[in-house]
Amino acid sequence: MTNGSAAPVSLVDTGAAPRLPSAGPLPVRSMIDASHARVVGRERESEVIAAALAAGRSILLEGPPGTGKTTLLRALAEGAGVGLELVEGNAELSPARLVGHHDPSRVLTEDYRPENFVPGPLVRALTSGALLYVEELNRVPEETLNVLLGVLSERRLHVPRLGVVDAAPSFRLVAAMNPSDAVGTGRITPALYDRSCRVGFAHQSADEETAIVRRDHDVVDAAFVERAVRATRSTREHPDLRLGSSVRGALDLVAVAESLAEVRAVALAGRLAPAAETTGTDAALAALSGRVQLLEGSTRTVEDVVAELWAASAPVDPSASSEDGDPGKA
Ligand SMILES: Nc1ncnc2c1ncn2[C@@H]1O[C@H](COP(=O)(O)OP(=O)(O)OP(=O)(O)O)[C@@H](O)[C@H]1O
Ligand SMILES: [Mg+2]
Repeated sequence: MTNGSAAPVSLVDTGAAPRLPSAGPLPVRSMIDASHARVVGRERESEVIAAALAAGRSILLEGPPGTGKTTLLRALAEGAGVGLELVEGNAELSPARLVGHHDPSRVLTEDYRPENFVPGPLVRALTSGALLYVEELNRVPEETLNVLLGVLSERRLHVPRLGVVDAAPSFRLVAAMNPSDAVGTGRITPALYDRSCRVGFAHQSADEETAIVRRDHDVVDAAFVERAVRATRSTREHPDLRLGSSVRGALDLVAVAESLAEVRAVALAGRLAPAAETTGTDAALAALSGRVQLLEGSTRTVEDVVAELWAASAPVDPSASSEDGDPGKA
């Protein structure tokens, strides 16, 4: 899948090809359409990223985990009709892992030959014209970042003993990172920022997060899903927590509650019967307690805080009090 454009894969000898390859267009409209079909909300982000990619630019997506960065990019790649090479950024991502390497046993018998080269995700993306998506960019070692920097500048990669690998017209680099990652964003060189556009991702609205969860769990009671989203979102604001949960917590909460309710033969609803309330609490603890982090100095436990938030997320009973609520209002 190379978007129909013939990939100018030139594995030529080093030193050749004086003209640098250039980026070709990508079908911006079908990228946006694909993301509308697969992604809840994110219209602005989808349009801006599609436009930047279509214009030949590289993009840095910055936002907390679970904010739909990968989901959106997958949809955009599909809409563009190009592949997606996904690379998890971590300290072990050496240049050889990113670029590829010569098969050592074949080198012994056959010497260095193009056929002995095992392409890594970068060479695969360059030659097939895929989007190279590097997650957790801020965890990537410096020397690997420098390889990416070179590719960003030239759309060309010099591979020792292989030669020059030119980027196919549809090749783009997309990197993602979490700005609050303890590893820090300071390591991302200004040179890299200077060579790409940037789109920030924040958590979506309660309605959108509810729609995301309902997509996967359309048979679960709607009020229960709303409550799960409310409880999850409240972890982002609790004074004892320094890190709250993304929508992934709500997705897990509903999934666990759904099967736990089946095991225990209880019904899920917004306001639960006492037996089912325990099921909700158990699901909330399983889904959220590992995802949140206590603020330093807090004397509470995460279980305690999550159980409190789950209890507080119950919808208000309109018949319980007519003094401060106003259930009869027109
Ligand atoms: N806008 C959205 N539309 C549909 N699904 C979404 C959306 N946002 C998040 N999700 C769902 O939430 C989960 C997390 O999304 P995703 O993996 O795309 O996040 P991410 O930003 O790439 O996270 P990370 O930074 O941890 O890699 C997935 O199950 C995804 O389907
Ligand atoms: Mg991701």
